[in-house]
Parts: sequence; C-alpha cells; structure tokens
Amino acid sequence: MTSDSLHLCSASVAELEAILARHDQSRRSLIPILQDLQEQTGYLPMEAVAAVAQHLDISAHEVFGVATFFSQFRFNPLGKHCLKICEGTACHVRGSAMLLDALTRKLHIVPGETTADREFSLERVMCLGSCALAPVIVSDDRVCGRINQKKLEKLLSNGMTQRTADDAQRNQIASDV
Ligand code: FES
Repeated sequence: MTSDSLHLCSASVAELEAILARHDQSRRSLIPILQDLQEQTGYLPMEAVAAVAQHLDISAHEVFGVATFFSQFRFNPLGKHCLKICEGTACHVRGSAMLLDALTRKLHIVPGETTADREFSLERVMCLGSCALAPVIVSDDRVCGRINQKKLEKLLSNGMTQRTADDAQRNQIASDV
C-alpha cells in the first residue's frame, strides 16, 4: 500500500499501515482491523476499506458487505452532536419510530448519516438498559428519557444553541486576532 493508492493524508496512511501491520492477512482479521480503524479514525473511509481488502486479498465489496452487516461500523465521520435513538422493544412501543421519523425530517438525514454541516449524526441503537425511561435518546452520551416531540425540539435547539455559542466565540477570537 502506498499513499498513491489512497486518497488519505499521510498521517492517515501511516495510521492505517500501523493497524494493518498489527494484524495477519487472514480473513479472520477483517473485523478486528475494521474495529481498530474505526477506533482510530471514528469511521471507515472508503479508501481505507479498499486498503483493507488489498491487505487481506479479498474484494472491497466483501469488506464493505461485512462492515455494513454490523451496525457498529460507520462510513461517515461523526457530527459534532451524536443522537442515538433506541429502537428496543420498550422504546418502540412508546413511540421511538415517530421520534425517528421526526428527526429524519428535521435533520434531512437517515440513521448512519451526518448532516451536511457536520453538526448532527443520527444512529439507531438497541436497548440501552433504561427501558423505564422509554422512549430514550442518547444525546452526546447523555441518556435522555421519556422523550416526546417537545423534548426532541429542545434537544435539537440545545445543539444549535451550542453551535451559535461556539460560532460567536470563534468570531470573537477571529476579531481579537
Ligand atoms: S428498549 Fe430502549 S432503553 Fe430498553
């Protein structure tokens, strides 16, 4: 593998090479490699998927097929805020599908995607062990229970408020320079 064969920055190529060097070239290494890669970069870039395929002498299609089978893997970088909606039985019974529908309409993304401005990512998860609080959404690792439309709006606006505050701070820093 060379940096010519990848459209990754040299640091990413070096990280990828280090990960591949830690694993043998057998098929059973596929999932551990993908796990290490995602832990390192936060997602699986397509160029890295191709490099993994090359390392294991299998097709990129096969690597992609395995990676898409497991919900733990993502193919886009995470947004600034990550919303995980629980689709376990208790949350489903208490309306998680309606919440997911509202989120996809509001953010214009489906689970597994990140908004174009990289502010929000949306994920599906199974039971989080907080069924008494169903329906549950995890917002940036904070468990939010008994979510309804009003609370959902608040979660999103809190994220957007944070963005506005960050933008204001950045602008202030820029004007101070
Ligand atoms: S089903 Fe959602 S927390 Fe258990």
